[in-house]
Amino acid sequence: MSDEIIKEIEQLKKDKNAIILAHNYQPKEIQEIADFVGDSLELCIKASDVADSDMIIFCGVNFMAETAAIINPDKKVLLPDNRANCQMADMISLDELKAAKKEHPDCEVVLYVNSRAETKSEADIVCTSANAGKVVSSLNSDEFIFAPDHNLGVYSGKESGKTPIIVPEDGHCYVHTMFKPEDIEQARAEHPDAKIVVHPECNDDVRQLADYVESTGGMVRLAKDPEINKLIVGTEIDLATRLARENPGKEFLPLRRDAFCLTMKIITLEKVRDALKEEKYEVVVDDDIASKARIGIQRMLDLSN
Ligand code: 13P
Ligand code: SF4
Repeated sequence: MSDEIIKEIEQLKKDKNAIILAHNYQPKEIQEIADFVGDSLELCIKASDVADSDMIIFCGVNFMAETAAIINPDKKVLLPDNRANCQMADMISLDELKAAKKEHPDCEVVLYVNSRAETKSEADIVCTSANAGKVVSSLNSDEFIFAPDHNLGVYSGKESGKTPIIVPEDGHCYVHTMFKPEDIEQARAEHPDAKIVVHPECNDDVRQLADYVESTGGMVRLAKDPEINKLIVGTEIDLATRLARENPGKEFLPLRRDAFCLTMKIITLEKVRDALKEEKYEVVVDDDIASKARIGIQRMLDLSN
């Protein structure tokens, strides 16, 4: 059954001249049919280099597909299930961000890519978990407004030596804030021979106890290090499955088995096929919002090159 669907997807991809991009948290079968799998930064960079394709099928959550649409105003960007949202991305409203800018007119605004297009249109620069410290270090001001992830705001402040003004106070990822210091203590007791890596979206007390703090792309690179044989992974559960698949002979264990991002799992092979066939669900960003949001995204991409 799935072999047939995969064949259909391959044919439709040729017919429509489409490319499939997938995030590291996508289920295994989606990662396997994707043309490119990566973290948010790698996906932004890839989305800025798809001149040969007419259509992008984005297997991830809405802010990722929106970012691809902002970068590619002339291409059709499709999200195979339009309920694939990121709760964190909706935690900052346009009004809240505008109010923070009014209160701190001299501060530059750094928007985590996990945010909606209209708030990105108010940003000076966008960042991802892979480059937050570097982006903040590039700012002219010593204080900066950061939204919407509290933990990444604190982390980027520490990395850069600058002071974050974080809006809202409590923006967070429900998956990464599940991790507690006790999880690390238990993992160390049970696996004294393992290293522990966690995502920057984790709470500060968890990050401080880990051996490494990395974006999901950083974790993929770390797993290839010949010094690493056993790694405990503090992020969404499917990242550990990708690491195990790509690094035979090494051991990868999730820090918690319930660290599961529900909306990352609602895309299926059937939905990818239907997206290609019926050209749904198109991600449309208002032209005016897109042209403003593109400035902060492009500034981040320029810094990455
Ligand atoms: P990465 O950019 O590290 O892949 O993270 C995206 C994300 O949504 C983390 O929860
Ligand atoms: Fe959003 Fe958290 Fe899911 Fe990442 S893991 S997409 S931040 S809800």
